[in-house]
Amino acid sequence: MAEKLFDLTGKVAVVTGAGANGGLGHALALGLARFGADVAVPDIDEAGSRITAQEVAALGRKSLAFRCDVSDPEEVERLFAEVDRVFGKVDILINNAFAFPSRARPHELSLDALHKTLEVSLVGYFLCAQQAIRRMLAQGAGGSIVNISSIAGASGLGRGNFPYSMAKGGVNQLTKELAVEYAGQGIRVNAILPAQILTQGFKRWMADPKTFNPALHQRLKDGIPQNRLLEPEEFVGPAVFLCSDAASAVTGVLLPVDGGNLALNAGGSHTWLAAPGEGTGTGNK
Ligand SMILES: NC(=O)c1ccc[n+]([C@@H]2O[C@H](COP(=O)([O-])OP(=O)(O)OC[C@H]3O[C@@H](n4cnc5c(N)ncnc54)[C@H](O)[C@@H]3O)[C@@H](O)[C@H]2O)c1
Repeated sequence: MAEKLFDLTGKVAVVTGAGANGGLGHALALGLARFGADVAVPDIDEAGSRITAQEVAALGRKSLAFRCDVSDPEEVERLFAEVDRVFGKVDILINNAFAFPSRARPHELSLDALHKTLEVSLVGYFLCAQQAIRRMLAQGAGGSIVNISSIAGASGLGRGNFPYSMAKGGVNQLTKELAVEYAGQGIRVNAILPAQILTQGFKRWMADPKTFNPALHQRLKDGIPQNRLLEPEEFVGPAVFLCSDAASAVTGVLLPVDGGNLALNAGGSHTWLAAPGEGTGTGNK
């Protein structure tokens, strides 16, 4: 039934880092709920988690607020035990919560900052995936895991993004390994690789003149053939697709949702020095 392809009615989803902070997890939790899913919205920010859970409930879906640090194995176990108690199953996991405490050039990076980034943004993804997969295997009905990665997992950003990019590169490989390992049991594992998204956190970063300026803004846009930064809502469609039966044969995919960023060669551009067919013919390369 074509009209049911994207329907998530009756599915139970866990979206990590889904607190009401105007971030991607927040938008995805509400997006999945709009497509019919019941949603658990764990976050280290307990108040934010409660607000998102209320918003999910207002859409007519069952919801669960829960304070959880995804880098702590015991807290992750408690989260999934609570999901068992409240919903009785898990069909979908969106690994989204991340931490990136400080930017530093690699030769000046502290081991603590590196560990913190990897523990939340890579090991945390594994911990949640492990709990979800155990349940999906026991349920025997497959499942879908979507790991929110980044363009930083597939190309270098510089500017002190080193530990973040290490984590996201690991997320990409975690995605492929889990996809291969569990394809036979109907558990699909995919990743979304966003370019820069205008979340509330990103907007706060843009407003800080110590770390951001118009030249950097222009540089980010120059790297995106669509010539703009992205909106959190633009990720709902790709995430719902990957979670739904519409993607029944899609697993192990690293899906850029990036306005064309990863398609662009460093020497390429989405602007022409002169209109095609005009000028000297030497500038439009
Ligand atoms: N915003 C961007 O430009 C951008 C670009 C590419 C990829 N991404 C990815 O999108 C995802 C979401 O990013 P965002 O910009 O929405 O972030 P955000 O900071 O707006 O939201 C992250 C959420 O995770 C929660 N969180 C932080 N540490 C946690 C922990 N240890 N346990 C549980 N929850 C925790 C925070 O409280 C927050 O609610 C991340 O995986 C990020 O790497 C974002």
